[in-house]
Amino acid sequence: MHDLLTLPKAELHLHIEGTLEPELVFALARRNRLTVPFADVEALRTAYRFDDLVSFLDLYYACMDVLRTEEDFADLVTDYARRAAAQGVRHVEMFFDPQAHTSRGIPLDVVMAGLTEGIRRASALHDLSAGLIACFLRDRPVEEAHSTLDALAGHVDSLLGIGLDSAEVGYPPSLFTEVYRDARQMGLRLVAHAGEEGPPSYVWEAIDELGVDRVDHGVRVMEDSALVQRLQSDRMPLTLCPLSNVRLRVLPDLSFHPMQAMLSAGLVVTVNSDDPAYFGGYAGDNFVALAEDLPLGQDDFVLMARNSFDASFIDDDRRRELM
Ligand code: ADE
Ligand code: ZN
Repeated sequence: MHDLLTLPKAELHLHIEGTLEPELVFALARRNRLTVPFADVEALRTAYRFDDLVSFLDLYYACMDVLRTEEDFADLVTDYARRAAAQGVRHVEMFFDPQAHTSRGIPLDVVMAGLTEGIRRASALHDLSAGLIACFLRDRPVEEAHSTLDALAGHVDSLLGIGLDSAEVGYPPSLFTEVYRDARQMGLRLVAHAGEEGPPSYVWEAIDELGVDRVDHGVRVMEDSALVQRLQSDRMPLTLCPLSNVRLRVLPDLSFHPMQAMLSAGLVVTVNSDDPAYFGGYAGDNFVALAEDLPLGQDDFVLMARNSFDASFIDDDRRRELM
């Protein structure tokens, strides 16, 4: 089953800041003359252990402080692209968190220039297309999401869409209904994290109030049979992240993952890595881990890989090339 590692796939749930491997943290800190509050790479890797989403986010935001210049963001993308391409990723729609950078004084123009240069280099080096999805941090004030969207308007041609991430519980999607309405009017595609730690009601809000094109995570949807029915009849894609769910203790271990029940219910499921540097594996590793722990067949994996291309916002020329 290890050809699953390299089975051609699209990655639709990937935080580019979550691809920051400890080696790159130290390399960028050295380049930018910063000190890392860990003795060495091994000490930092040991800290990549979490009790829940918030305990992960604390380290995730702390580590990204080493990202300062255009070149840093470009290097982050090219490092990820090399690892992803080796695991069959042919197309990636990567999230980034503008507020996590602007709030510490890094201009949005620097972030955008670095990420787009990284994508240009990555597609020159590998058979890999890529696009960007700007996520709003749902645990920061809603007004800040509005002003961030205003700033993003100057970069709309470099974006596929918008998303919603960070600490979920207590921050329901409906808080962001107007932000999503404005983004839709700008021609952007819409996605949102929902049903990772938060309840199924957050997934209802994401589809009914935000009008999302895909739901990120949704691992908890099986708790609500009416929701499953709705997702199935809408053919609403879910971007699941199995290793993330185990590392963030959403599930005790992978044998508890509802993937098989989701497939049986006819849901459009995809397999993704979320924050691979922190969660122990890239896209292909997530396929392999599912195969090891769940009684899924080769046909299931081929279907999930096909779903990833179907559910992508890929342009028609690239879609014809890949499918
Ligand atoms: N930001 C980075 N990874 C995330 C996740 N898994 N959930 C919510 N916000 C995130
Ligand atoms: Zn995520």
